[in-house]
Amino acid sequence: MQKFKTKSAKALLLSVSAFALVFGGCNAADTKTDTPKAHVEEMAQKTANHDKFTFANYDEIRVTHLDLNLDVKFDEKVLDGIATLDFKRVLQDANVLVLDSRDLLIKAVSVADKNGEWVPAAYTLGESDPALGSALTIQVGDSAKKVRIAYRTSPEAEGLQWLPPEQTAGKKHPYLFSQAQALNARTMAPLQDTPAVRITYTATLRTPPELLALMSAEQDGGPLDGEYSFNMPQPIPSYLLAIVVGDIKFKAINDHIGVYAEQYILDASAAEFEDTPLMEDSNAKLYGPYRWGRYDLIVLPPSFPFGGMENPRLSFMTPTLIAGDKSLTNVVAHELAHSWSGNLVTNSNWRDAWLNEGFTSYVENRVMEDLYGEDRAVMEQALGLEDLKRDIAGAERPELTQLKLPADIAHPDEAFSQVAYVKGQFFLMFLEERFGRDNFDAFLKEYFNHFAFQSITTEDFITYLHDELHVKNPKALTKAELHEWVYMPGLPKSAKNPQSDAFKNVSAQQADWLKGDIAAKGIKTADWSTHEWLHFLNTLPELSQAQYKELDTAFSLTGTQNAETAFAWYMQTIKGGYAPAMGELENFLMSVGRGKFIYRLYGALAESKDGKVWAQDVFSRAKSGYHPIAQRRISEGFEAK
Ligand code: BES
Ligand code: ZN
Repeated sequence: MQKFKTKSAKALLLSVSAFALVFGGCNAADTKTDTPKAHVEEMAQKTANHDKFTFANYDEIRVTHLDLNLDVKFDEKVLDGIATLDFKRVLQDANVLVLDSRDLLIKAVSVADKNGEWVPAAYTLGESDPALGSALTIQVGDSAKKVRIAYRTSPEAEGLQWLPPEQTAGKKHPYLFSQAQALNARTMAPLQDTPAVRITYTATLRTPPELLALMSAEQDGGPLDGEYSFNMPQPIPSYLLAIVVGDIKFKAINDHIGVYAEQYILDASAAEFEDTPLMEDSNAKLYGPYRWGRYDLIVLPPSFPFGGMENPRLSFMTPTLIAGDKSLTNVVAHELAHSWSGNLVTNSNWRDAWLNEGFTSYVENRVMEDLYGEDRAVMEQALGLEDLKRDIAGAERPELTQLKLPADIAHPDEAFSQVAYVKGQFFLMFLEERFGRDNFDAFLKEYFNHFAFQSITTEDFITYLHDELHVKNPKALTKAELHEWVYMPGLPKSAKNPQSDAFKNVSAQQADWLKGDIAAKGIKTADWSTHEWLHFLNTLPELSQAQYKELDTAFSLTGTQNAETAFAWYMQTIKGGYAPAMGELENFLMSVGRGKFIYRLYGALAESKDGKVWAQDVFSRAKSGYHPIAQRRISEGFEAK
């Protein structure tokens, strides 16, 4: 892992004073040392915001534009071609450009001289770190503004999944999709792979002629001819670079929103996501106009390791959302919400991931409330809170339950627990409650506008909150409360406790059944949505074998088609060692690659009696179908147990 880089003295003082501005200087309880100098250093260390997951020297020289010209070679499983990067000097005498790369074969590097002629440039590829890859250090001299790199990716690139035809639904054509967040853009192209840097991009992709290529950008809209060009005119962080190539069809939802998918699931996807235009309206009404032109969704193959990914103009979605009843479309609201929180205003460091995910979970929930009413929004808050409490209880160390994560997180993966999502959401709900909904809505709308197309830190947010909201309502909130929410572990007592009448009813019936007062068949589930089922299943204690059987017989839970319900049920059956579910659990693990489900299923199996060997066997057979990210995460999980 790269050594922690220290900031310039001026930057250090700035981040310390932003902190002091709101918190009124140091709190004695935080101070481990007595001398003022040592204390400044300690606070500076705590608030240092340089991204340590990049080799890029972005404080000295910054890439501003990326052009990709690539052949998509399915036979070799590589992208092969040229990346041309425009850059500008932050320090006028900077003459070295350091880029991130991981598993890239660098063939040649040249820079444009004063006359615009390409001349070979000296470069070195540093030692390889398993997560960060290698620094690509290029001598760019003192006048060049462009560098050109001929390269190819590796068939093992963690950010790319190459599916052979057998692993697609259509079975006739191969498929490729990327996943750049958090550290994998550097496995696709050499670049400054940090959310602190924003770039515009253009690209030309050559593919087999029968396949369609898409990117997180404007498309040329030309015919299916094996050559596609793209333009992303708004500056984006590298983790939003995205590619997908396959036998993909399109169905419009309105004039600027539509769905891409393999044919088998196209109509069902368009139906499931038909409310997306309403979500956009709701989001825009609350937080200002959608700024990215089109908004399309693509439903990927089941190995996609996330629920959704907010690639600009083209959110990537798991097919496990297609439940037939729109019960899981909060994920669409979530990815769309990132068009404001995340894509427009981005965390400049993964320690501040809550600025992306917490804000997005908050906005998602506001949109769900606006469209479907408070009951559904409150149920989703309550389900989130159950997950958050589990993650807080299971945290490896308390600092990982702070919104502002400590400087020594080992990998950005650590930044994406329910703490960033749900604690972040509940913090904003708390602020909303204290300042009043109207004031807070106006504040957030202006926040997105003020920081649009910038990458910021938690301290930037706090300073803005202080200046724009707190000074006008100084009594609404104390410094100690703010400090507790942002810089302290756990969940503050001031967090809302969402009360769902529907869930109370579910709990009451669950209690009656557990006491033996009613039979499972007597539980009135006819009106239950997926949410009520999830609450019922997630809150079950360990049952007797007869009780599992009774539930399973009454409600056919084993093998259920709703992936969320199936997951919740299998977590319970693993805990209780209910063997009749194992066959369908195996089918689930063999066919679904969504990390949220499979990491925890494998984790629970590895801890259960006799489960580890069974799970390792299933994994050995399922593995080749999983995304490289999921393969790594599950292997690491087995090693840790
Ligand atoms: N940006 C995330 C997915 C992600 C996180 C990818 C970290 C790589 C590293 C996306 O917006 C997300 O949060 N997806 C959730 C959706 C949910 C919270 C509604 C998911 O995948 O489950
Ligand atoms: Zn998200």
